Amino acid sequence: MNKTIEYINEKTGNFIPEIGIILGSGLGEFADEHKTIAIPYNEIPNFEASHVQGHKGLLVFAQIQGKNVVMMQGRYHFYEGYSMQTVTYPVKVMKKLGVKTLIITNAAGAVNPEFTPGDLMFITDHINFMGTNPLIGKNDDTLGTRFPDMSEIYSKELINKAVQTAESLNIKYQKGIYAATTGPSYETPAEINMYKILGASAVGMSTAPEAIVANYAGMKVLGISCLTNYAAGVSQTPLNHQEVIETADKVKENFKNLLFNLINVI
Ligand code: HPA
Repeated sequence: MNKTIEYINEKTGNFIPEIGIILGSGLGEFADEHKTIAIPYNEIPNFEASHVQGHKGLLVFAQIQGKNVVMMQGRYHFYEGYSMQTVTYPVKVMKKLGVKTLIITNAAGAVNPEFTPGDLMFITDHINFMGTNPLIGKNDDTLGTRFPDMSEIYSKELINKAVQTAESLNIKYQKGIYAATTGPSYETPAEINMYKILGASAVGMSTAPEAIVANYAGMKVLGISCLTNYAAGVSQTPLNHQEVIETADKVKENFKNLLFNLINVI
């Protein structure tokens, strides 16, 4: 960890970010528009390269609306074969750099049939169906406690701010519970029906590990899902990654606008 922080501080001239943003599939353009310093993951000690389509693998630093921000353009997914430690390492790095608020974004399938692909959903809570937990292993007492409370991972205060911002910009939004799966296969209709019965509104392959670690480390978390498709069985059409990227692409103007204005109020 020390090597990572030293390297980043050297590259940024000891830039202290207060807001962290993880940009999900197809949503990375926000970082392009505000890029000041960009460090490829594969140059950072203890980071690994990320390869999924639509993901760049850059740690981007910028001042936006007068706030110091660090952004992950692309993330590590569990389904790529990375350990939970690798998946959540950047969140710990952000914490050590000074981040107090983490905005986690993703592309997700709509489980709730009343939601529409293209909607943004503020995550109120999650169900971790990944079958593991990123905090398994020796606890790092400098980051958090062994048995951290998870009763409000996603800050109600931040959700309210996101709602107000979306309303002021006339951007359609939903609120709901995110079910996290490992992927990489999409779910079966029976699985989606199960998630629905359990109370989930959206399903995706990321976010929960990062949110658990951020909450554990005392950061305030806001989760935003870009609903890119109906989950399996909600509509009859087969799913594909291209559709996910295309819908995210259509939503990106709203998404960027929301994010830019949110930074001003958090
Ligand atoms: N399921 C899981 N992950 C996803 C989906 C989905 O339908 N869409 C985008 N990411």
